[in-house]
Amino acid sequence: MSLLGEDFTLKATGVCKRYGAENVLEGFKFSLPEGAFEALMGPSGCGKSTFLHLAAGLLKADGGRVEIAGKDVLSMGDSEAAKFRRRHVGVVFQAFNLISSKTVRENILLPLALDGAKLSAREVKERFSTIVERLGITGIEEKLPDELSGGERQRVAIARALLPSPEVVLADEPTGNLDVKSAKDICALFKEINSCEKCSILVVTHDPQVAAAASKVHFLKDGRIAASYETEHDPALVSKFYLETYK
Ligand SMILES: Nc1ncnc2c1ncn2[C@@H]1O[C@H](COP(=O)(O)OP(=O)(O)OP(=O)(O)O)[C@@H](O)[C@H]1O
Ligand SMILES: [Mg+2]
Repeated sequence: MSLLGEDFTLKATGVCKRYGAENVLEGFKFSLPEGAFEALMGPSGCGKSTFLHLAAGLLKADGGRVEIAGKDVLSMGDSEAAKFRRRHVGVVFQAFNLISSKTVRENILLPLALDGAKLSAREVKERFSTIVERLGITGIEEKLPDELSGGERQRVAIARALLPSPEVVLADEPTGNLDVKSAKDICALFKEINSCEKCSILVVTHDPQVAAAASKVHFLKDGRIAASYETEHDPALVSKFYLETYK
């Protein structure tokens, strides 16, 4: 519990990330309260994916801390970060590939197969059915990733991230490959997972519709959060804030 009485699932302080002479993140500060569903927006190249990769322990920083469930992800070695991720963080990244030699079912169950202490076999079975149904990928469980469309693959990656009941889901353009209806369904699923389970969600998106599914939107500019607003679940309001921030 913080002094202000608010708990955070994710708390970044003083995060710096450089590529050569380019400072992508500089003294970056960000907090995701427990149980929150929030969005991160900004122009291409401003560092959104960089931050999510750092927070997922997939990238090394040049300074700072990113605490998830009270642990500093940035100070972990690769294998510790991988284990931590399987237990606490659901990652939905386009580049975070599915394993091509494994079926959809095996891919979705993989994090639990590697570290299945958290749920019973019955819970896994029930959760698998619910999530697969909600994502509209029933019937393709025995297919290989190469036999799927881009959108189907993306939904399998989302199912894989959600199945272990992570404390936080980090999603980078989770609807980027989806049609309008599927994107809406994914937003509804995120909202449901967020409200029914103790799962905080941070979604990076260019789509005001997706950002408006979240309660709050943050805008990244010059390596920092330049502004944050309540979305009021209104895509037009999100677009207006965006244009004001980057005018
Ligand atoms: N491996 C890398 N080596 C060098 N520069 C990199 C590397 N990865 C990212 N960058 C640079 O860091 C900056 C931020 O990239 P990042 O992928 O975080 O942007 P983004 O906000 O996610 O953009 P987009 O909306 O296009 O996905 C960009 O200028 C990019 O060129
Ligand atoms: Mg990106």
